[in-house]
Amino acid sequence: MLGLKQLRRWRKKNLSWFHPEYEANGLAVKNRKLDFLDEPRFVAAWEAAVAGNREGWPRKMPDIRWRAHMACWAGRHALTLEGDFVECGVHTGLLSMTVCHYLDFATLARRFWLFDTFAGIPVDTLPAAERDKAEAFNESHYFDVWEIAERNFAPYPNAQLVRGVLPGSLAEAELARIAYLSVDLNSASAEKAVMEALWERLAPGAPVLIDDYAFKGHDDQYETWNAFASSRGRMIATLPTGQGLLLR
Ligand SMILES: C[S@@+](CC[C@H](N)C(=O)[O-])C[C@H]1O[C@@H](n2cnc3c(N)ncnc32)[C@H](O)[C@@H]1O
Repeated sequence: MLGLKQLRRWRKKNLSWFHPEYEANGLAVKNRKLDFLDEPRFVAAWEAAVAGNREGWPRKMPDIRWRAHMACWAGRHALTLEGDFVECGVHTGLLSMTVCHYLDFATLARRFWLFDTFAGIPVDTLPAAERDKAEAFNESHYFDVWEIAERNFAPYPNAQLVRGVLPGSLAEAELARIAYLSVDLNSASAEKAVMEALWERLAPGAPVLIDDYAFKGHDDQYETWNAFASSRGRMIATLPTGQGLLLR
């Protein structure tokens, strides 16, 4: 029989992975400082975004708080640069509402351009190879969320929803310099098209947060992003969340 000390030692050695300090959205972590997730300003921002986004996720809202924290970090860094904020792929705004709340965006002399159809992935404009996956996403996740999105961003008069099909809808915004870019379209061809259109407008050093970069099942996006980064002499950092981080 094991004594108490030996039992503790055995548990530490053999069961440690069953007790991660953080476990959500496919990521389990032990033995790391995670205070950033409990920072009161971030907690308030995340909770406000969760409250506003529930209706956008009728099945189950994903616990993407670490991803949202990365977006807040990128947004905070972007405040040291010149330019507006942009998100391509907004849905009801889980990421970008967290950023708006965290940065108190209504008080900033910048605009946040939020591009989406607000009704799912436009299948007709996709190459044939992407259509089945997009149709499956539309069926399982997306519906007309325009009114929810309008309500969620109403407290931020400098956040501008742009409804339309990307990349064409970029022309509807008065986009000059961009300090922060979040791309989350679940479509390799659309993501490539917006990057080709926006790269030159990014401020030097501006962060591009790529939401689905290193997720299994998103291989075409991964390859497309790597080829894009390489064509611009850059390398994408794979974050533990599965996001990619590319700097202009
Ligand atoms: C994964 S969701 C975005 C989630 C969002 N970033 C959040 O924080 O909840 C992907 C979104 O991209 C939009 N989308 C995909 N392709 C698009 C395109 N070509 N033009 C405009 N919107 C598109 C869909 O309507 C959908 O709302």
